[in-house]
Amino acid sequence: MNADSTSPAQKIILDCDPGHDDAIAMLLAHGNPNLELLAVTTVAGNQTLEKVTTNARAVARVAGITDIPFAAGASRPLVGPQLIPDEIHGDSGLDGPQLPEPSVPLEEIHAVNLIAQVISENEPGSVVIIPTGSLTNIALFARMYPQLVERVGGITLMGGGHHTGNMTPASEFNILADPEAAAIVFEESWPVTMVGLDVTHQVLAVPERMEQLKAIGTDVAQFIAELVEFFGASYMKERNYPGPPMHDPLAVAAVADPSILRTVHAPIYVETQGQHARGQTIVDFRRTWSNNDPSGLGVTDDPDFEAPNTAVAVDVDAEKFWDLLVDALTRIGNTNF
Ligand code: RIB
Ligand code: CA
Repeated sequence: MNADSTSPAQKIILDCDPGHDDAIAMLLAHGNPNLELLAVTTVAGNQTLEKVTTNARAVARVAGITDIPFAAGASRPLVGPQLIPDEIHGDSGLDGPQLPEPSVPLEEIHAVNLIAQVISENEPGSVVIIPTGSLTNIALFARMYPQLVERVGGITLMGGGHHTGNMTPASEFNILADPEAAAIVFEESWPVTMVGLDVTHQVLAVPERMEQLKAIGTDVAQFIAELVEFFGASYMKERNYPGPPMHDPLAVAAVADPSILRTVHAPIYVETQGQHARGQTIVDFRRTWSNNDPSGLGVTDDPDFEAPNTAVAVDVDAEKFWDLLVDALTRIGNTNF
């Protein structure tokens, strides 16, 4: 939805595992005028591939998305066991609201091939991929279409954390769900921005934020309120949080308005071994580089230092995020789904 953007909207592909926060991320991606959602692909994660794919198509109907392709991807991780956090997202993967029957069709082709098709059809560097689930599809894309990696404008992913884990003390779910895939993605040459728990835990949908969303007064806002009610109850029970983190919407918001996050470029490594650390994203802050990073986190003045292609979010303008989410939902209006 980029009806009134003055500059061309940023083209994006959302690769997701709905998932309550993925659903909100899709609505944000659709409603924000600075983004042009070209395709939605799904990957097993919060629930099985079949369930997250049905959920993604149901959310499309809530959003009023009718004219972009949806394709299903990997049904399990590359190497490790499948993890399904049904204690957070429930048996359907999107427990809480009544979901409408999906209306957008599911493409025959695999998600990885749809991603390749979209990247090939658009100008080099013009499409950003936003993974909000495990990175299995993105790793498979890099291995199946190595010649297309340099055409990808960037990867802005929800995952990891530089000092925080949720599934274990060291690891975040999207990375732990497929550490080998994550290692491939972080080791590739494309620009990667990691939107990790360190910042997503600063945008919790606490009651006063929910009142802000409900005040929009549309059927879509009510749907989100019911999503957050279930998601919030899970987070309160499992993690004693006052509100569920808006993990995936923050990754989308960061592409819509990069000023929402402060990031530093630093090498990022994914631990695929380790008894306690499998799935950890290790950020080498000793080697950060950023000519606009007031924190001075290991900033080097060596002009020959090659800035890493990976960046990590270290701070967030939460107010700006919430304003952007409310704006996107307001623009969607009622969809009578
Ligand atoms: O750890 C949070 C991430 O895992 C989010 O993307 C959530 O949807 C789950 O996929
Ligand atoms: Ca997700």
